[in-house]
Amino acid sequence: MSISKRKSDHIRICLEKKVETNKTGFDNINFKDIDLVHRALPEVNLKDIGTGCVFLGKKLNAPIIISAMTGGTDEAEKINKNIAEAAQSFGIAMGVGSQRAAIENPDLEKTYKVRSVAPDIFLVANLGIIQFNEGYSINEAKKAIEMIDADALALHLNPLQEVCQPEGDTNWGNCLKKIKELCTKLDKPIIVKETGAGISREVAVELKNTGISALDISGSGGTSWSLVENYRNDNGMETFNNWGIPTAVSLIEVVNSVKIPVIASGGIRNGIDIAKALCLGADIVGMALPFLKPATKSGKEVKKLLKKLTIELKTTMFLVGAKNIDELRKKPVVITGKTKEWLESRGVDIKKFSARK
Ligand SMILES: Cc1cc2nc3c(=O)[nH]c(=O)nc-3n(C[C@H](O)[C@H](O)[C@H](O)COP(=O)(O)O)c2cc1C
Repeated sequence: MSISKRKSDHIRICLEKKVETNKTGFDNINFKDIDLVHRALPEVNLKDIGTGCVFLGKKLNAPIIISAMTGGTDEAEKINKNIAEAAQSFGIAMGVGSQRAAIENPDLEKTYKVRSVAPDIFLVANLGIIQFNEGYSINEAKKAIEMIDADALALHLNPLQEVCQPEGDTNWGNCLKKIKELCTKLDKPIIVKETGAGISREVAVELKNTGISALDISGSGGTSWSLVENYRNDNGMETFNNWGIPTAVSLIEVVNSVKIPVIASGGIRNGIDIAKALCLGADIVGMALPFLKPATKSGKEVKKLLKKLTIELKTTMFLVGAKNIDELRKKPVVITGKTKEWLESRGVDIKKFSARK
């Protein structure tokens, strides 16, 4: 099956089916394990609240990246341009989907290029690390960055998706070495990102030691690639539909064990989730699926969602008494339920979050 056909299947399934597992630990659906503490006296004027921050040296107006989704088809080109237009107008970051299709067929490069509508955004290129076990070298990494004039390259980790695909690549024996080589040879920052199954503290430490610039934990609880692949092929892998480290758990494990810029993603769905992730130690927050439907329509629809998210984030900051993102990061967080049990069983200190004043 061609890469472009697979990409169209992914978009169609994500638009039409239930592909989320709702177990992030942030949401109210299965369990609500992360709470911020309401301040009856905010001691801040709502209109003075600012959401600006800096990520990998770039100033963002809000701590948000629209995560990697697509490229390689006409529809994907429209989706990328609509996202890019909105990202430019809100001053936030954006990632394109895996550029493998265009590396293999340069006619598809235009479906990833967005600089004509988004000259100033922090733009992230994307390739799967597994391709570097299957013949890619520094040349393909450079090509992906140059193709879209990107500020950084995301290397995605998707072993769950690959193992659930009949045609998947399962030769994952040598990836850390490949990441290390790329870090020494590439002059742009490398972000390693999961794709919805989370990063543990052990893997975070191994990745930090390769020399990467940032990590996107992309935890479990939002889009599930085993669910998506199981809609595509009835291959009996539905046992793995809930596999992975919930986003809240992954985030806390990672920020407790490595000092490196962290993107929190995987099932982040509203401004309260964004505030919770920042409070737990994320530098910025990523969202993919919620932007897909608006991006198939127009840049205006994407902007509508971004407006809603930023209003919700500011409202949450008001209600915990934080004038800016740095103040928000110091506010207390209460961790309960399964998230607490998981972290305690792994020996992670969570008292420091609730003990904040
Ligand atoms: C339609 C779709 C396509 C995706 N394609 C890619 C991709 O090509 N590369 C990648 O790194 N992640 C890809 N992802 C994963 C997202 O970037 C993100 O890590 C994951 O979906 C979790 O976020 P969410 O729960 O907000 O969707 C894709 C996600 C969606 C929904």
